[in-house]
Amino acid sequence: MSSEPERCIRVHHAEPLEGEVLVPGAKNSVLKLMAASLLAEGTFEITNVPGIADVGIMAELLRAIGVTVTETPDYGVVTIVNGGDLTPVAPLELVDRIRASINVLGPLLTRCGEVTIAMPGGDDFGSRPIDMHIAGLEAMGAQFEFDGGTVIARAERLHGAEITFDFPSVGATENIVTAAVLADGITIIHNAAREPEIIDLCEYLNEMGARVGGAGTSTLRIEGVERGSLHGCEHETVPDRIQAATYIAACAVTGGRLDLLNAQSKHMEMVLSRLGDMGMEIDQLPYGMRVAAPERLRSADVATLPYPGIATDYKPLIITMLTVADGVGVVTENLYPGRFAYVEELQRLGADIKTDGHHALIRGVDHLVGTSVVAHDIRAGAAMVVAGLAAEGTTTITGVHHIDRGYDDLVGRLRNVGAEIERVGC
Ligand code: EPU
Repeated sequence: MSSEPERCIRVHHAEPLEGEVLVPGAKNSVLKLMAASLLAEGTFEITNVPGIADVGIMAELLRAIGVTVTETPDYGVVTIVNGGDLTPVAPLELVDRIRASINVLGPLLTRCGEVTIAMPGGDDFGSRPIDMHIAGLEAMGAQFEFDGGTVIARAERLHGAEITFDFPSVGATENIVTAAVLADGITIIHNAAREPEIIDLCEYLNEMGARVGGAGTSTLRIEGVERGSLHGCEHETVPDRIQAATYIAACAVTGGRLDLLNAQSKHMEMVLSRLGDMGMEIDQLPYGMRVAAPERLRSADVATLPYPGIATDYKPLIITMLTVADGVGVVTENLYPGRFAYVEELQRLGADIKTDGHHALIRGVDHLVGTSVVAHDIRAGAAMVVAGLAAEGTTTITGVHHIDRGYDDLVGRLRNVGAEIERVGC
């Protein structure tokens, strides 16, 4: 894994990509599994861990709290030993680097009765409050104190509650579920998030000895258990649907044909159906999926929604595909109003895109033209790489540290299927 911020990615116009790509485990699952390991004493072995920078940051955060974390050199397997002697303080220098650090809140509060945590960082796309996390935990008996950028939460023992979210927040669902595992009594969450990564977390908790029901539906029921009945476990991380979609997008803009090993089409139904409308042929394989692109993509309209809708994280990839598709497509963002920063970069490559509030109107052009662009966040960075494959000439991408946060060897994987792409100094 490489994460030197001074590196750039240089990508040349690509011939159709062909071959096999092994889709790694999901960032947005593994980080939460790691945080949930704070709940119980014991040894946890998590496999199918992606080689990404965020895993290293979460490992540092957990070490600061008092658990032992060891990774195989390219990650792959992360072993966590929780000896029970925890310091429930999440320091700003680590918390500020990844949004998922907020996931230590629920486990630490329920386990230690108190937690001090700096407000989380992560991607910079608009305001990302945690009011739903706080309201849910307050309903379970927690008390919060705010001191500048620091949140202090206290609860001698949380109790079960019936909580209805205004919106199926991924992070709030995760924090309430993990907190409820050791609470007194039963917690019900209505309008819970339903993502495959939430299911993965609930399975992990149950393997640990928790009693979580309803995973994958919008109502979760968690029966609190005693501390001593939780234990370590082994778990394989769910494959990453967003990384899978990134390789589909790369295939789509180059007119290629790829086998995506481990990709789970059942986790991507809506987005695959829309990609089908755009002309992609997608077949399920026993060990993943096969995708084949038409000579030219057709435009389509797309709106992001919570799962099972089309995830906001696919959007920069979809917009990039639409820049070279035949026709006009409208993409509507329903989760993060500010998440269009990369549009300017695509325009620099010659894309015809107009934005208006939550909407982007993309008129497909014959081809993009390579130049220097910036990766503003993880998914926007991946979209720049895909755009570079489609663009005539050479595209140079800076801000590569964002891509390294969430992509396990994107450059190597694309090179293996025929892309001319490399990491260079810049
Ligand atoms: N929201 C609130 N209040 C809350 C919680 C959320 O207003 O208490 C708002 C957020 O501000 C945002 C929306 O609700 O506008 C969605 O937030 P959600 O809690 O569902 O998302 P998250 O847990 O912060 C995770 C992923 C994101 C992904 C979103 C949506 C992780 C670490 N992050 O964020 O992934 O975009 O769900 O699916 O799991 C990425 O991987 O690049 C990434 C940004």
